[in-house]
Amino acid sequence: MKRIAILTSGGDAPGMNAAIRSAAKFAFYHGIEVFGVRRGYKGMIDNDIFKMTSSDVSGIIDRGGTMLLSARLPEFKDPEVRKIAADNLKDHEIEGLIVIGGDGSFHGADLLYKEHGIRVIGIPGTIDNDIIGTDFTIGYDTTLNIIIEAMVRLRDTATSHERTYLVEVMGRDAGDFSEGVGSAYEIGKELKKIVDTELRITVLGHIQRGGSPSAFDRVLATKMGARAVKELMSEESGMMICSESNKITTKFIDYAWNGIVDDTQKRKDIELAHILTK
Ligand code: ADP
Ligand code: F6P
Repeated sequence: MKRIAILTSGGDAPGMNAAIRSAAKFAFYHGIEVFGVRRGYKGMIDNDIFKMTSSDVSGIIDRGGTMLLSARLPEFKDPEVRKIAADNLKDHEIEGLIVIGGDGSFHGADLLYKEHGIRVIGIPGTIDNDIIGTDFTIGYDTTLNIIIEAMVRLRDTATSHERTYLVEVMGRDAGDFSEGVGSAYEIGKELKKIVDTELRITVLGHIQRGGSPSAFDRVLATKMGARAVKELMSEESGMMICSESNKITTKFIDYAWNGIVDDTQKRKDIELAHILTK
C-alpha cells in the first residue's frame, strides 16, 4: 500500500480533523503517501484531490468541522457517477480510501469497493451516534456535552423567570439525544394548553455540530484513524472501524445498516432515567 486517500462526507462532526490527523500521520510514519479529497464524493467527481503533507495536519486536533470540507452528493447513487469517481482515484494511483462519515457515506464506499475494487475503510463520524455496530461515533460525545451545557444555561434563566422551556435538539432518529420527536413549535402549541407557566422555545440546530472536540472524541478519533490505515496496510477492505466496550474493532461495512441492533443497554438506561426523574 503506497498511496491512500481520505475524505469526509455527510454532516460534519467534531473530531473528524483528529481522525484525519491520526490517519495521515500514521500513514506518513509507514512511508505511505496520503491524498486529501475535498468535499467528500463531490471532490472525487471534480477531481479535487491533493497530496497532503504533515504540515496540513499539524495543529488541527483542536479544530471542529473538517479541514477536508464536507458535502452531500445525491448523484453518487448513480453507478455512472461512481465510475467517474473511481477513475479519478485510479488516475492518482490511489490504492486505498478512508471514508469518514455516517451510514450514507458508508453505502457509497461499499459500492466503490464492490463495483470498482477500490479498497475502502469507513470511520464512523457523525454526531447522531446512529451507526449499528459501534458504541460511539466520532462527534457524539462533543455534541452531547454541547446540549447539556445549553440545558444548564436555559435552566438558569427558566428558573429565574419561572418559565417552561421546550428545547428542540438536532439529529435524526437514533434517540441518543431524544431527538427526531417533531418540531418544537408544533409541540409547543399543544404544550401551551397544559402548562400553567409562560412557555419559551429554543431550537439548538447546527450550534450542536460546531466547536472543539471533547477529549473523548479526540481519543476515539485518534485510535480509529490509525486503525483504518493499519487495516488498509493489511490489505483489508469493505470494513468499518468500531468501538466496542472500549476496544477498537472492525466489522463489515454493511453492518452499519444490516447489522443487529442491540438496544438492551439503551432500554435499561431509559428505565433508570425514568426512575431518577420521578
Ligand atoms: P451520512 O454519511 O452522515 O449518513 P448522508 O446520508 O447525507 O450522510 O450521505 C452522505 C453522502 O453519501 C450522500 O450525499 C451521497 O453522496 C452518499 N450516499 C448516501 N447514500 C448513498 C447510497 N445509497 N449509494 C451511494 N452513495 C450514497
Ligand atoms: O446526520 C448528521 C446531521 O447533523 C443530523 O444530525 C441532522 O439532522 C442533519 O445532519 C442536518 O443536515 P444539514 O447540515 O444538511 O442541515
